[in-house]
Amino acid sequence: MKTYLRNLDGFSLVMADITRLDVQAIVNAANNTLLGGGGVDGAIHRAAGPELLEECRCIGGCPTGEARITRGYRLPAGWIIHTVGPIWRGGGFGEDELLARCYKSCFSLAARHGIRSIAFPAISAGAYGFPLERACRIALSEMKAFLEEEGEENGVEVIAVCYSPAAYQCYQKVLSEL
Ligand code: APR
Repeated sequence: MKTYLRNLDGFSLVMADITRLDVQAIVNAANNTLLGGGGVDGAIHRAAGPELLEECRCIGGCPTGEARITRGYRLPAGWIIHTVGPIWRGGGFGEDELLARCYKSCFSLAARHGIRSIAFPAISAGAYGFPLERACRIALSEMKAFLEEEGEENGVEVIAVCYSPAAYQCYQKVLSEL
């Protein structure tokens, strides 16, 4: 099921397990160690296999707001872009800016690697406790900005991946207000 941003090609909203998506890159909502965890991080490491952890070990971590890229190994996706979202602490500690920076960091890494299709989970909206609608709003605003700048002529595809109906509805609500 695809929902396109009004007059903005290149965007899709889907309900899916991100590890199964056949796109060039999927984004992982990681932690600073990049050594795996629960949630989508755990799912990606389980699906990608042990070589992913070996590569992550060589990277030596990732600061919050930044992103690092690895191969996808056993995933359908050729690349994994690992980003570390902010832990929600009430909103007064620059969480919004850090979350926006995660999307920007992922997009700039993707561009550097000529990646044309990238799927994002709702970064920080799970264990890191970021309020879902607020996280969706930041995600969509960054995706829209990227697609308006890069998308049209380069045929770039950005997919927002929801893992629950609540997330899907949230994205749809925010989309309708954009
Ligand atoms: N496919 C797509 N989305 C998923 C999947 C999946 N297989 N599994 C979980 N999600 C969704 C969650 O429903 C949530 O909306 O990803 C979003 C992000 O949730 P988390 O995975 O908990 O990530 P985050 O909130 O950023 O917390 C990161 O959790 O797993 C640990 O190591 C990770 O410490 C880090 C922290």
